[in-house]
Amino acid sequence: MNEIKIFSPATVANVACGFDVLGFCLDSVGDDMVIRKTDKKGIHITKIENFDLPFETELNVAGVSALAMYNAIDVDFGFEIEIYKNIKPGSGIGSSAASAVGSVFGMNELIGRPFNKTQLTEFAIKGEALASKCEHADNLAPALFGGFTLVKSISPLQILEIPTPNDLFATIIHPQIEIKTSESRAVLPKEVPLSDAIEQWANLGSLVHALHTSDYNLISNSLNDVIVEPYRSQLIPLFNDVKQAALHVGALGAGISGSGPSIFSLSKGLETATKVKEAMAAVYSKTDIAFEVHVTKINNEGVKIIS
Ligand code: HSE
Repeated sequence: MNEIKIFSPATVANVACGFDVLGFCLDSVGDDMVIRKTDKKGIHITKIENFDLPFETELNVAGVSALAMYNAIDVDFGFEIEIYKNIKPGSGIGSSAASAVGSVFGMNELIGRPFNKTQLTEFAIKGEALASKCEHADNLAPALFGGFTLVKSISPLQILEIPTPNDLFATIIHPQIEIKTSESRAVLPKEVPLSDAIEQWANLGSLVHALHTSDYNLISNSLNDVIVEPYRSQLIPLFNDVKQAALHVGALGAGISGSGPSIFSLSKGLETATKVKEAMAAVYSKTDIAFEVHVTKINNEGVKIIS
């Protein structure tokens, strides 16, 4: 096999109480990428559609993660990467992670899968770090493994797969403004009060337990972020109105998706998730803020081969 086309999914990182450690994978939103073996050695990005992103390998997250893997293998050929980008950069649903994951997943398939998913995440972290100026894997891990993942540690990298309750659906609204991850990290405090930390880790522990036991009430009671949301929500227009609108029609919870500006909510059942979509959209429809909104089931497969 010399060429592969893959789908690299969007993801929601943090999931309210799990800043930098928890994430889940979306089903209906993602990038397509083509990875091809070439006689010319090295990594070359030959096509980028829909967004104006750098073609220089070292300046493109897909290129940087591909290079990290390329430097770890001994081959007498190179790779070309084509990126058909559907996830808007700076949207908060793992745009850079999808690119970083797609290139290494595709290359690994073309060379007979020498690396496991955790090792692929190690390479992809290098690409993600180019975009967010720090190494974290809470978008990368769900894009590679699918479902919910918890990054137990970065060094050494340890990723836990958390089960997804069958009836869980996500609604994501994306106001069309760009927030760079590096900028939304800069607004965060360096220290947090112990009482807030206690509340946050109690919520994260109970959310993980609730996902294991399909306890939707406990999911709802755990989806609270007392540490990051108070700071970042100020960067997102009408955040509280959108969140309250979602809760009012039955969402289990809502919060900032990754570093924003997208806002996610989780619901039990497609019917409620669709009502949440309408309620969230109604908030921005009354303004001149353009937006996109998606309802999706949780994608338990992650990045996958299309052809
Ligand atoms: N955990 C990261 C953040 C995800 O919230 O900054 C975005 O890259």
